[in-house]
Amino acid sequence: MTDKNRIVLAYSGGLDTSVAIGWIGEQTGSEVIAVAVDVGQGGEDLEVIRQRALDCGAVEAYVADAREEFADDYCIPALKANGLYQGKYPLVSAISRPLIAKHLVRAARQFGATTMAHGCTGKGNDQVRFEVSFTSMAPDLNCISPVRDLALTRDVAIDYATKHDLPIETTKNNPFSIDQNVWGRAIETGFLEDLWNAPTKDVYSYTDDPTYPPLPDEVVISFEQGVPVALDGKQMSMLEIIQELNRRGGAQGIGRIDIVEDRLVGIKSREIYEAPGAMVLIEAHKELENVTIEREQARFKSRVDERWAELVYDAQWFSPLKGSLDAFIEDTQRYVTGDVRMTLHAGRATVTGRRSDSSLYDFNLATYETGDTFDQSHSRGFIEIYGMAAKLAAARDVRFGNGVDFGVGNLANE
Ligand code: ARG
Repeated sequence: MTDKNRIVLAYSGGLDTSVAIGWIGEQTGSEVIAVAVDVGQGGEDLEVIRQRALDCGAVEAYVADAREEFADDYCIPALKANGLYQGKYPLVSAISRPLIAKHLVRAARQFGATTMAHGCTGKGNDQVRFEVSFTSMAPDLNCISPVRDLALTRDVAIDYATKHDLPIETTKNNPFSIDQNVWGRAIETGFLEDLWNAPTKDVYSYTDDPTYPPLPDEVVISFEQGVPVALDGKQMSMLEIIQELNRRGGAQGIGRIDIVEDRLVGIKSREIYEAPGAMVLIEAHKELENVTIEREQARFKSRVDERWAELVYDAQWFSPLKGSLDAFIEDTQRYVTGDVRMTLHAGRATVTGRRSDSSLYDFNLATYETGDTFDQSHSRGFIEIYGMAAKLAAARDVRFGNGVDFGVGNLANE
């Protein structure tokens, strides 16, 4: 080890972060350690990425296959919280950043680095998620963003890569900014920045066109305490379950999302997502919660879920409040065990059956047929007392001439 400062860079293997290795070195005089984390984004082999980082001038390169960890420790909590930001976005990028940050901090400790770096721009959420995650785990570390802080624009990157003959393609002109992992895929920029422009076919890669679906596909998803454990009776890991549902849900065009999103930095942005596995799982999980969670707990949980999604979106994965909400959510999952049957077809995952030993559904209480054990005579007294407060308020309104106007004069005063 030299006495030079060391910087750990979140490395994707793409053009911008490949150039960033040399760029950071030149601009800061520090040594760069590249860290690539596989969260199921597909694409290149980790060893190829590792070698490229070294070829681009990294003094160390660390790659981690974090797919199982991502599925178990990030996707499962997101599923237990039915995590949907603004009721729609399954937090694809938002849940990956804390995990990537964790691996980066580990590398910083291992290789004696004092500064962290990432390839995010200065106007997105991901810069905040990385940096707040870093400080939440390691308050002593600094952070820089070469794009934001060292003027590493795309044109500069292309020039630099050509001039230094870096082993990375500079010609591929993808108009979109894409972030993907096993939980889903986010697509932004390009012509999508015009809110009126419909997404074209080439935007999608996890999903096929739902308007030309194959035959309906029936799937049974089994859960234990809120965690998916089997598909069609076959035990599988969370990672395998997401992957298989990405395939099967994707073939049916399920999980395409087009939203104008409220970013943490205050702007609205147009985002396209595709998250077939995540959306199928969330739908199934919500349904099993419906039959296994007590009403008041369920009502409260939906508010906790919403807040959880906001916190995770807003870079608060490691925050105390998020931790407390996790504890509440975990407690609610005790009886969320059972099976949900769904038909996957033409862009929709439709629940067609649910069964659970810990269900709160009581056939004999619900039925209108023989076997009914619900004593309807109790309802009379219940309604009398339940409606008492409303009755008192209404009587006062009438006394003050503020009763409901039926359009025929105030009957009570005639
Ligand atoms: N807007 C989404 C989020 O904040 C997706 C970000 C995707 N990142 C990207 N570099 N394309 O979670």
